[in-house]
Amino acid sequence: MHVDLLITHASQLLTIPAHEHGPQRGDRLGDLSIIEDGALVVSGGTIVDRGPTVDLAAKYQADQTIDAGGRVVMPGFVDPHTHVVFAGDRANEFERRIAGATYMEIMNAGGGIMSTVRATRTASVDELVAQTRARLDRMLQHGTTTAEAKTGYGLETQAELKMLAAIERLDAEHPIDLVPTFLGAHAIPTEYQGREDAYTDLVVNEMLPAIASRILHPASFFVDVFCEDGAFTLTQSRRILVRAKELGFGLKIHVDEFEPLGGTRLGVELGAISVDHVVTTPPDEIELLGRSDTIAVSLPGTPFGLAQRDYTPARAILAAGGALALATDINPGTTWNESMQMISALACRYLKLTQAQALAAATINAAYAIGRGGSIGSLEIGKQADVLIMDTPDYRQIGYRYGTNLVRTVIKRGRIVNQAS
Ligand code: NIG
Ligand code: FE
Repeated sequence: MHVDLLITHASQLLTIPAHEHGPQRGDRLGDLSIIEDGALVVSGGTIVDRGPTVDLAAKYQADQTIDAGGRVVMPGFVDPHTHVVFAGDRANEFERRIAGATYMEIMNAGGGIMSTVRATRTASVDELVAQTRARLDRMLQHGTTTAEAKTGYGLETQAELKMLAAIERLDAEHPIDLVPTFLGAHAIPTEYQGREDAYTDLVVNEMLPAIASRILHPASFFVDVFCEDGAFTLTQSRRILVRAKELGFGLKIHVDEFEPLGGTRLGVELGAISVDHVVTTPPDEIELLGRSDTIAVSLPGTPFGLAQRDYTPARAILAAGGALALATDINPGTTWNESMQMISALACRYLKLTQAQALAAATINAAYAIGRGGSIGSLEIGKQADVLIMDTPDYRQIGYRYGTNLVRTVIKRGRIVNQAS
């Protein structure tokens, strides 16, 4: 049979399957379903077969054959939580934090998220696209083939729509597929200090309808809220998310990053696709989460970037039967890191995941956390051919080694889009 692409001689072909058309949950996390000396067959950008090289090389004639040469072949990383679209940087604040200031102190003094909001409001769409493109290029080089991208540095209707326009342009022009999330409730902008409910009204009554009028498929678009002391209260978060749900959007929430406000319970109650951060989550909410379909998205780059001690209680979430995914949270304030390999390394050390668990959390489970589990995140027949060839024969080197890039070849929809020199 004639096909477009045949990848042969993977030392380990990591298929990382979905479980019952869903994420790998609880103690079943870490099922890589490895095919040794494996091959992958691609036609029309889609995976059409996979199996031992000896069988498939005889069965298919391909336009292009790539000999993986005894290296690991795996699905592209999926990064399900990013603030990758922004202008400027906050290197000055990092310097202040080294000297002892906390993240929330800087934010409450008008810096933090608001300083990126000022830079983003004054940037043109072209500038936002150009600055973000450089980061997406690095993400791609490090193996990310699909990413979520949030607004949230505009905090006024037109500036939020400008961020959305930048996300749409980058999705169209860049090999990385972007899944958009509206985060108008990222911070209370300075001009609304002391009038937090009035800003919540603006999000509910003006921004959400403005977004809804532009989005054709609301179910594959997400609305997120930063539920935190100094950002949005539980009551304000509920108002925004209930309205978003009425408009047909999927829901995400930043919960329990610093203070536990009950956001995890709220996310589960409203059927959010994910609750994100999940660091200070109390045990009863971990139990609720474990029994729900809501995915816990852990962002270990954030406590690491803030030099904090506490990380997501991943073992407890898995013991409760929960579904866990990993993401970078890339943003200019808490963690500017483009690499899901780095996130896997942090997850092995601070979340106590095995390398296999980290890889499943960063691929198939991450895909489900953005509603794309049916089409990406694993090397299964019928899925989009988003594939990495890694510069190692043993998957256990990913997460064990860190700080260097082990990605050799990045394939998106069956086409090579990045090749390490
Ligand atoms: O997920 N927590 C809120 N948002 C980001 C930080 C954004 C920023 O500081 O610019 C986060 O850590
Ligand atoms: Fe975030």
